[in-house]
Amino acid sequence: MRGSLAINRRTVFKLRQIGIATLGSVKIKILLCGCVALTLLAVANRNRDGSSSLWGWTSDVASLDRSSSPRGRYAIVMNTWKRYDLLKKSISHYASCPRLDSIHIIWSEPNSPSDPLKRFLNHVIFLNSRNGRQVELIFDINKEDSLNNRFKEIKDLETDAVFSIDDDVIFPCSSIEFAFTVWQSAPDTMVGYVPRMHWVDETKGKDKYGYGGWWSVWWTGTYSMVLSKAAFFHKKYLKLYTDEMPASIKEYITRNRNCEDIAMSFLVANATGAPPIWVKGKIFEIGSTGISSLGGHSERRTQCLNKFVAEFGRMPLVSTSLKAVDSRNVWFW
Ligand SMILES: *[C@@H]1O[C@H](CO)[C@@H](O)[C@H](O)[C@H]1NC(C)=O
Repeated sequence: MRGSLAINRRTVFKLRQIGIATLGSVKIKILLCGCVALTLLAVANRNRDGSSSLWGWTSDVASLDRSSSPRGRYAIVMNTWKRYDLLKKSISHYASCPRLDSIHIIWSEPNSPSDPLKRFLNHVIFLNSRNGRQVELIFDINKEDSLNNRFKEIKDLETDAVFSIDDDVIFPCSSIEFAFTVWQSAPDTMVGYVPRMHWVDETKGKDKYGYGGWWSVWWTGTYSMVLSKAAFFHKKYLKLYTDEMPASIKEYITRNRNCEDIAMSFLVANATGAPPIWVKGKIFEIGSTGISSLGGHSERRTQCLNKFVAEFGRMPLVSTSLKAVDSRNVWFW
């Protein structure tokens, strides 16, 4: 009697345990399903409009509308060279970006831009006008063919912010918006997507430097320059470059068709004593691979670096490991 009771009790206890266990696993399954569903919902929402909106929460930085004043807008200064397809493609893209005020195309070719090209670009700009407002499109025609042209002072530039780009890289408008916001919080600083570094080359002697490309930045996690092929900076640096950059450096750049971006990094670092800011953003290269893939690129850049250090009388670049990311696009936290 006692024995059977004990067995019964044990069985009941066991059954209960199984019950709890199954109930538990059902709960976990429901929870898991809920998590997956929420994730899908969030991802779908994100993809739909590029901003994170979940249950009516919107945190769209761009919607804080400061775009009506020149301080809330920026100008694109684009360097181009005989690649009209790329130029058309990139202008067509950028014309659609909010908060863009004007586009300056730096033209250094012997022939003026053709009428069909102008017509095409103006039409694209017209199609992208919003609220009766149209982006201004200006060709800055230069007689001399020099890479220094891209940093010539632009008279009557309405915006403080300049977004300097090459014609063969495309950034989604959302990435540009983000970099612009970062720049607005540090308007003296250069803010860009393509970091590079310098390092002391002790094998070559005192005050000798080496140029570090993408791999070096990736390996060390530090950088001291952002390239002007894709960077925001204040328009005052155009004036500074035009007026203060030593003539010997400008000549060197014209002659070697290289390193104007390093010179600009020197100029800003010399003025601020601070490092630039690297922002995370999507980049699409639409052109051919460009000079950076040609052999001897790194040696030529190293030469520029040491030449400029000699001209400035010191190494102005400051290293950092800070990287700005859009917290809405970080997966976990
Ligand atoms: C670098 O900074 C020094 C000190 O502020 C200044 O005198 C010099 O003109 C600057 N050089 C250039 C090329 O801007």
